[in-house]
Amino acid sequence: MNMGIHSRSESSHTPVAIVGAGPAGLMLSHLLHLQGVESVVIEKQSREEVETTVRAGILEQGTINLLRKTGVGERLDREAEIDEGISISIAGESHRIDFAKYTGKHVAVYPQHEVLIDLIAKRLSDSGEVWFNTEVTSIEDHESDNPKVHYRTADGSESVLSADYVVGADGSNSLTRKLITGEDGRRMKHEYPFAWFGMMVHAPQTAPELIYATHPEGFALISTRSESVQRYYLQCNPNDTPGMWPDERIWEQLHLRADSDSVIVSEGEITDKAVLRFRSAVTDPMQRGRLFIAGDAAHTVPPTGAKGLNLAMADICALAPGLVQAVKKSQSSLLSTYTERALPRVWKTQHFSYWMSSMLHSVPAEDELTSAFHTNRRLAELSTVVSSDAGRQLLAQQYVVWDFPAI
Ligand code: PHB
Repeated sequence: MNMGIHSRSESSHTPVAIVGAGPAGLMLSHLLHLQGVESVVIEKQSREEVETTVRAGILEQGTINLLRKTGVGERLDREAEIDEGISISIAGESHRIDFAKYTGKHVAVYPQHEVLIDLIAKRLSDSGEVWFNTEVTSIEDHESDNPKVHYRTADGSESVLSADYVVGADGSNSLTRKLITGEDGRRMKHEYPFAWFGMMVHAPQTAPELIYATHPEGFALISTRSESVQRYYLQCNPNDTPGMWPDERIWEQLHLRADSDSVIVSEGEITDKAVLRFRSAVTDPMQRGRLFIAGDAAHTVPPTGAKGLNLAMADICALAPGLVQAVKKSQSSLLSTYTERALPRVWKTQHFSYWMSSMLHSVPAEDELTSAFHTNRRLAELSTVVSSDAGRQLLAQQYVVWDFPAI
């Protein structure tokens, strides 16, 4: 048995089988436990991989409240940076969006893997079942009362877990989603003609709040991880590779795009470089029979605005009470409306991520005059937003608060 990881229970049945130990899967198993419903989380990666993979880092107010309310917000409250605004920089001219003024709320800069570390520790200390290094190979009978999850462990042995309900929280390459879209489910998609080049930098913090910078050369985002580790992104071509971004090019572009009268991007050793693809996708419905999907398995948002984890948490708040009602009272009225309760919020978030992305990135066009048209229209839209109270408030409200379902 691996240190800190619970061994497989003798039982081969669980009320709720959850595929994937990401934010959605772990939070669901935690919420179910708090309501007296046990579950098994099956994760193909090792605990170490789950706890170290670099992802985005912004928690909106609903997510912060959820973590606090359910007893996993202690380290967040101790360590996270609280931001009451962001800065939008347009070719070196900075405009602050004041969240506190427009919404009375804030966001926390607390990376996704830290949330996962806290949730895993809590699940294990509550004797929860989280099976790492275990791959789900297929799901059967999810349209019957007794779905079955087939899985393979690291040593290659295969077994079956039967469940009352199965939840696919297995990320954007989801196996479980295919059981929904493979029949008559729809997956609606949009691809973007740009991507982000993300890097981790050992340097002092550039500015007290995040900077979203747009410039004729492209977008840049100045974010942070701690006082001495910074997270920077540069708009790049989706086909770029890290080899095309030597350090000199990175620093030249970061200064060009994000420096302003009051800010100079701080430099240091670059420890991680990766290209992040931009995609939007929504699956409808998010349920078939006794199989439900949540988080990235159901929908993907581009990273601008860092909504992915927050959307996953909101899905789970919509799903968990329905599962509790179904398992404890054998009533499915709440569960059966999961898709219709979740999707309006998913589409609003999809819109916000798309809007922020298209307003801040420069899009190459076939000819110079078409490019000039689109750039000037985009800059006029951005200027309309940042130069009026109504525009700044609209952005702030969407960045900070959503109609997070109550749990
Ligand atoms: C991040 O810190 O990774 C981050 C922050 C804000 C975003 C996207 C990513 O909009």
